[in-house]
Amino acid sequence: MALVNEHFLKLPGNYLFADIAKKINAFKTAYPQKEVIRMGIGDVTRPLPPVCIEAMHKAVEELAHKESFRGYGPEQGYDFLAEAIIKHDYAPRGIQLSTSEVFVSDGAKSDTGNIGDILRHDNSVGVTDPIYPVYIDSNVMSGRAGVLEADSGKWSNVTYMPCTSENHFIPEIPNKRIDVVYLCYPNNPTGTTLSKAELKKWVDYALANDTLILFDAAYEAFIQDPDIPHSIYEIKGAKKCAIEFRSFSKTAGFTGVRCGYTVVPKELTAGTLNGERISLNHMWNRRQCTKFNGTSYITQRAAEAIYTPEGKEQIKATIDYYMGNAKLMKEGLEACNLQVYGGENAPYLWIKTPNNISSWKFFEQMLYEANVVGTPGVGFGPSGEGYIRLTAFGERENCIEAMKRLKNWL
Ligand SMILES: Cc1ncc(COP(=O)(O)O)c(C=O)c1O
Repeated sequence: MALVNEHFLKLPGNYLFADIAKKINAFKTAYPQKEVIRMGIGDVTRPLPPVCIEAMHKAVEELAHKESFRGYGPEQGYDFLAEAIIKHDYAPRGIQLSTSEVFVSDGAKSDTGNIGDILRHDNSVGVTDPIYPVYIDSNVMSGRAGVLEADSGKWSNVTYMPCTSENHFIPEIPNKRIDVVYLCYPNNPTGTTLSKAELKKWVDYALANDTLILFDAAYEAFIQDPDIPHSIYEIKGAKKCAIEFRSFSKTAGFTGVRCGYTVVPKELTAGTLNGERISLNHMWNRRQCTKFNGTSYITQRAAEAIYTPEGKEQIKATIDYYMGNAKLMKEGLEACNLQVYGGENAPYLWIKTPNNISSWKFFEQMLYEANVVGTPGVGFGPSGEGYIRLTAFGERENCIEAMKRLKNWL
């Protein structure tokens, strides 16, 4: 008899967004004539930048001819893309990397979910709370999270670092050792950021405690404030303690095309039980070569194109569009006397529900009474209770209309 990985059975039945979709469907069945504005799931609405389309057409043409055809590419990604990433995303911030430290992938979800492959099952794990659910669920699947405590909604082997309005969404440095800590800045779902000084505290903690930081910078392109770090490697010593994940999904409309990358510095090591230090770059390379056959050539050419001067202008226009949405949403929500966080350096707005009503209750009321969909904050972790997330990735007209509806409703 084949036995299943029983850790999967510990997972709650559904992925958060499947639950939300079910509730929207129930509403639409009951009220088919009502038009719902979706500001829940974090998918983008602007089309791919023209430079990407051009690059993809060109790449397709290359694949059409014997002389320029390409089959399997390097599992780690083509050098042309890794070089562009280093030259444009890191070198200008004073960060030196070699192409063998950059692993191009099909996105940050896969990489943040798969990175646990190279880590022992009994590492202790820490997360800021609320958090992108993939970090927790992937650890549940590998048996690292322990068991779900029904009362608290927390996993027994996971340390939760609450981020709420009370601490200005700045997680407190733990007073104990944790082996692996996930940080995501700019943050999904709260839309908040960490200053260089705050991020330095984490790097110092990691260096002092031999902690591995898994730093998800999927939203770095949305940072507007010049003092906020885009990369954890802007902090001295971070190459010794951190892996960084990035994504082209929200930056350049690649949610469907699929491309991201992960930086695993050469000097980053972790231990074996008998104290030997092992290069994580080497291990991740080994893992990728075995389980991943590279991102398509066409996709990598499209990603490369966003680093051209035209490409940079085009993605800036897209980001400006979304951040324009965020601004008008923030103003609109504040005009409804709601407490609103984020939305200044991230495409997410994190809203305190009025009168302390629960996230799910507010979600349902907003759906049924204003026909606007958000994401219940508690779906991102226990400290998300009493909040709701709205995304700024919608069409401008929909954002304006949604704010009107909320104003009338509230
Ligand atoms: C924090 C965070 N990391 C990673 C991802 C996934 O990105 P990708 O589309 O590159 O897989 C998301 C997507 O919503 C996200 O919010």
